[in-house]
Amino acid sequence: MSRWRTSAERASSIVVRMMSLAALLAAQLLALPVARAADVAAAPTAAAAPAHAAIASAHPLASAAGMEILHAGGNAFDAAVAVSAALAVVEPTGSGLTGGGFYLLHRGSDGMESAVDAREYAPAAATRDMFLDAKGEPVPGLSMESALAAGIPGEPAGMALLAKRYGRLSVAQSLAPAIKLAREGFPLSARLHDALQRSQKQFAADPEVARNFLRNGAVPAVGTIIRQPELAATLEHLARNGLESFYHGELAERLVAGVREQGGIWSVADLAEYRALERAPLVGHYRGARVVSAPPPSSGGVALIEALNVLEQLPLANIDAVTRKHFIIEAMRRAHRDRAVYLGDPDFVSVPGAMLTSSDYAAGLAASIRSDRATPSNSLPGVGAGASAGPQTTHFSVLDREGNRVAATITLNFGFGSGRMIKGTGLFLNNEMDDFSIKAGVPNGYGLVGAEANAIAPHKRMLSSVTPAFVEKGDRTMITGSPGGSLIIGLVLLATLDFVDGHSAAQIAAAPRFHHQYLPDVVRYEPDALSSDEIAALKARGDTVEPGGRRWGNLQTIVWDRASGTVEAAADPRGEGEGLVD
Ligand code: GLY
Repeated sequence: MSRWRTSAERASSIVVRMMSLAALLAAQLLALPVARAADVAAAPTAAAAPAHAAIASAHPLASAAGMEILHAGGNAFDAAVAVSAALAVVEPTGSGLTGGGFYLLHRGSDGMESAVDAREYAPAAATRDMFLDAKGEPVPGLSMESALAAGIPGEPAGMALLAKRYGRLSVAQSLAPAIKLAREGFPLSARLHDALQRSQKQFAADPEVARNFLRNGAVPAVGTIIRQPELAATLEHLARNGLESFYHGELAERLVAGVREQGGIWSVADLAEYRALERAPLVGHYRGARVVSAPPPSSGGVALIEALNVLEQLPLANIDAVTRKHFIIEAMRRAHRDRAVYLGDPDFVSVPGAMLTSSDYAAGLAASIRSDRATPSNSLPGVGAGASAGPQTTHFSVLDREGNRVAATITLNFGFGSGRMIKGTGLFLNNEMDDFSIKAGVPNGYGLVGAEANAIAPHKRMLSSVTPAFVEKGDRTMITGSPGGSLIIGLVLLATLDFVDGHSAAQIAAAPRFHHQYLPDVVRYEPDALSSDEIAALKARGDTVEPGGRRWGNLQTIVWDRASGTVEAAADPRGEGEGLVD
């Protein structure tokens, strides 16, 4: 164990409590302003264009769809529309038109940066306690499996914004590869096969899903061609009438009727009033690197920058490997605690984003970290759970030869959302309402707790963990992000640290992961992430350390090195994706 000591070893837990009080006061003063289109930020310098374009996504056919659009004269923003639509077809576990997410943009010509918030919002008829019973207790499954679990989708509005403001091809052109995949079919992959197998019982009982994905109630063999004619017709409707037609007229009425007949509460007005928003991305700095990520209502950018700010105060390079991991775990713990206490939709609650991402605040947090002891999560004042990881949510990264970049993390929440389809549309319903705090301190499906800031309200956006990111250091730029629910923030943090240390995209994608999310107060790790000596050393500090079960995340990373002129695109070896460089 290192003999180096942080100043916290001279401090007591009272300091932590005082810090929290100070934080609460500061929260009143430093509310994050609501960012709109006019606030989109410019990167300090517009960079020279790369010699290659690159796309990394969770499915080879989605990466190929994006490349097809680049070859047809589209830019990275058109390619992002094409990849989003193709993923909805070939990776229906991860995302879909009935979902939402965040698109982080960088325009090569002038360095403009923007975060497109296509997060779902709660229907107008949603109420704060809608998932609680008469005794005020959560009704099991209601926020995950019922039609009430579905928020109003944002993905088509986000795609429309990308196409209209930043793209150069027609929506019909960008949707064409996805329409072909839905109509002509694609070979069932092992990953989708396994996901279908896990939901086989539910799907066999639902003719809407069964006719698209099963054969006589059973999951077909890997390689079987999967055709989705109803999804193809929905995509063709959008290609003909524009992506906005998802929210108006005939299709909107069908969606609302389909949700209501399953007991949901969507209205035509909910869809008509939905808007994707452009917000100013969050920008932080870590040991000479510039880090850009998504602002609230995603917690990803705040938590990533907060954790990096804490780690910048600690001597990561000059200590033994396990103390380094201990510091990272303690930074994760504190960033996730603040996520739980403070973060929610900034259009509804005062989010102290400027405070949470300030280096002064991080200095206080770093001072509360001892090198020889874990901080019990229940000693950090907060709200008062296991993280799960499956094939839910998806991320893709795009770089074109003009230097335009997209990092997009889009989601239905859990795998296939609620697993319910809207009749005749080929669309799965998201179960994103579970990302709200349905009751203070009650963990959601990812074991994450929340409080008032993330309580349900009509047309409020539920807090997300997605962390699409650009990181620039010296001549190198990384575009990255991942699915993984509550695990996302930690794994993008590890990716950022590895990038800053000079690792390649392939090394970053393959590196084993460990995680802490404040509650439950447990360090989880992938095989090989911690040696037995390191596990023993963390336990000796007071940590509870548990193997994480299966591996997690599906990081899609592009690294562009201006000095060597190389562009590298790496799909996470845990998934079945593909990085393409052209
Ligand atoms: N639905 C997962 C997230 O947005 O965090």
